[in-house]
Amino acid sequence: MTTYGIIGAGHIGSQVARAVIGLGHDVVIANSRGPQTLDALVADLGPQARAATAAEAAAAAEIAVVTVPLRAIADIPVEPLAGKVVLDTNNYYWERDGHIEALDRGEKTTSGLLQEHLPTSKVVKAFNHIGAPDITTDGHPAGSAERRALATSSDHPEAVEHVTALYDALGFDTVDVSPLSESWRVERDRPAYVVRQNRAELVENLAKAPRMI
Ligand SMILES: NC(=O)c1ccc[n+]([C@@H]2O[C@H](COP(=O)([O-])OP(=O)(O)OC[C@H]3O[C@@H](n4cnc5c(N)ncnc54)[C@H](OP(=O)(O)O)[C@@H]3O)[C@@H](O)[C@H]2O)c1
Repeated sequence: MTTYGIIGAGHIGSQVARAVIGLGHDVVIANSRGPQTLDALVADLGPQARAATAAEAAAAAEIAVVTVPLRAIADIPVEPLAGKVVLDTNNYYWERDGHIEALDRGEKTTSGLLQEHLPTSKVVKAFNHIGAPDITTDGHPAGSAERRALATSSDHPEAVEHVTALYDALGFDTVDVSPLSESWRVERDRPAYVVRQNRAELVENLAKAPRMI
């Protein structure tokens, strides 16, 4: 059993919480407004979940998940996440996040920005190109024709191994698009972004992604 510290309790954070609780893990979950605003969610998630501040969730995490609007990653606590695997679900929506020049110019990646913010953590891309409800409803057994594939990417092989095992437990195949400098291939508006695809289709979509959109 693992304790997941989840920073961000919206569409994706709450659904990743449901998913890992369904696998028997514990969750400490945080938002920006404070744990007292998460009573309804925690009641819904059940006894394996508790609400906390972002700093407390980071400290409690054996595995962390950062799932906030990209503009908020500067607020993510650094020291309590040192040395830990940190799953990054974030995408760049300049309409929501404001323009980030290094992304607009194709010089950096969204997950690379989180890795820069958390230099001693093991940042790994996860769940960024699947709609939140599908995380708990679209899994299928290994080898079945319906099995969907999801991408991951990291500069840390141990973090890729964790996400690959988690995807598998939830019923998804994995395509590794490491290192993080290649992770733009699964960012917003690329062919692999939020479409239902099997492993072969995902490999093909990642290969034909344009660097600039
Ligand atoms: N929705 C999807 O299906 C989907 C799929 C894949 C990836 N994503 C990406 O995943 C990320 C999260 O998406 P979402 O749809 O879950 O967003 P969302 O529903 O808007 O939830 C965002 C969460 O982040 C929290 N938050 C914001 N600023 C924070 C801060 N400074 N410290 C701690 N928590 C903070 C919010 O808390 P408060 O409410 O208290 O402010 C809220 O709980 C985004 O980057 C999004 O692009 C979304």
